Amino acid sequence: MQSKWTAPANIALIKYWGKQAVQIPANPSLSMTLSRARTVTEVKVGNGKPGSWSYTYAGQPKPGFEPKLVAFFDRIRDLLPLISKHELQINSENNFPHSSGISSSASFHASLALCLMDLNQQLGYSDLNETAFRQQSSAIARLGSGSAARSVYGSWVVWGQSELSGSNNQYAIPFPDTVHPIFDRYRDAVLIVSSEAKPLSSTAGHALMDTNPFAPTRYEQARNHLKQLIQVMTTGDITRFIDIVEQEAMSLHGLIMNSRGGTILMKPHTLELISRIRRYRSETGSSLCFTLDAGPNVHLLYPDQEKEPIRSFIRSECLQFCENEKWLDDYIGNGAERIN
Ligand code: PMV
Repeated sequence: MQSKWTAPANIALIKYWGKQAVQIPANPSLSMTLSRARTVTEVKVGNGKPGSWSYTYAGQPKPGFEPKLVAFFDRIRDLLPLISKHELQINSENNFPHSSGISSSASFHASLALCLMDLNQQLGYSDLNETAFRQQSSAIARLGSGSAARSVYGSWVVWGQSELSGSNNQYAIPFPDTVHPIFDRYRDAVLIVSSEAKPLSSTAGHALMDTNPFAPTRYEQARNHLKQLIQVMTTGDITRFIDIVEQEAMSLHGLIMNSRGGTILMKPHTLELISRIRRYRSETGSSLCFTLDAGPNVHLLYPDQEKEPIRSFIRSECLQFCENEKWLDDYIGNGAERIN
């Protein structure tokens, strides 16, 4: 018996940064699910010792990854009888380069959660309809990596309690209101400034928020930003969209800098790209804006109809600031899918 799923990465516009036990976000977040950057995970039920499991990446052992998986399995064992009653063999593979400015933990934990939920169901330990199956999978994915809760769904996704109907802290939901057509076909060009390992893991970064003196104000800001972005997503007010999205990126990095240890994740080329993006926008009236994950790479967000001029801008003004001129050309996608 086996199950195979593919899940995409996602990029947060309203950032999740700070949490309570167990993986409950300090504020709601909103993301765009990508299309191309994906993880494929396959889980097989073996005949070995019940309760045991093994993990390979692209068919090769990956011992460095095991402590995170041990913690994940400890959290979900009581929720999925499958885990203690069978031996599981897990293999996963990403189609995007490691440390490319796209977090693989979201796509990995989402695809793994879906495989485990699927097998749990195939073995008769649960009998959920499609909606409940996705919700429960998102909740399981959340226990591996908070942002993974959002990769279960496509398009625009919200995770965390907010004024949006159905939103909650346990699992993500697809953005419930009708979005303005400009947001139907959005793109994300990831400019790779550096692919070096980050000096601050997201686990450590979230934990630093517990002692950050600005944390309460930040959580309030995130809630206000989401409230405004909900309006913008329905009205299509691009100017306001740009303001909110860029301010969120700056707040994330501001928090990382003013948390204990004062980590700087941006590089000089990150700042150069940001100023070029802003200059290009003021000179052309483009809808292009940027966001940042917890790293130095720059995500360019823009509507599909601006694809050609923005590609020229990337080639002529941005690639010289990217590591080996590397960038990923991605766009909004449909979310996780089963592979038969
Ligand atoms: O899911 P985690 O624990 O890796 O945290 C993700 C944090 C950010 O990527 C910086 C923001 C987000 O909402 O995805």
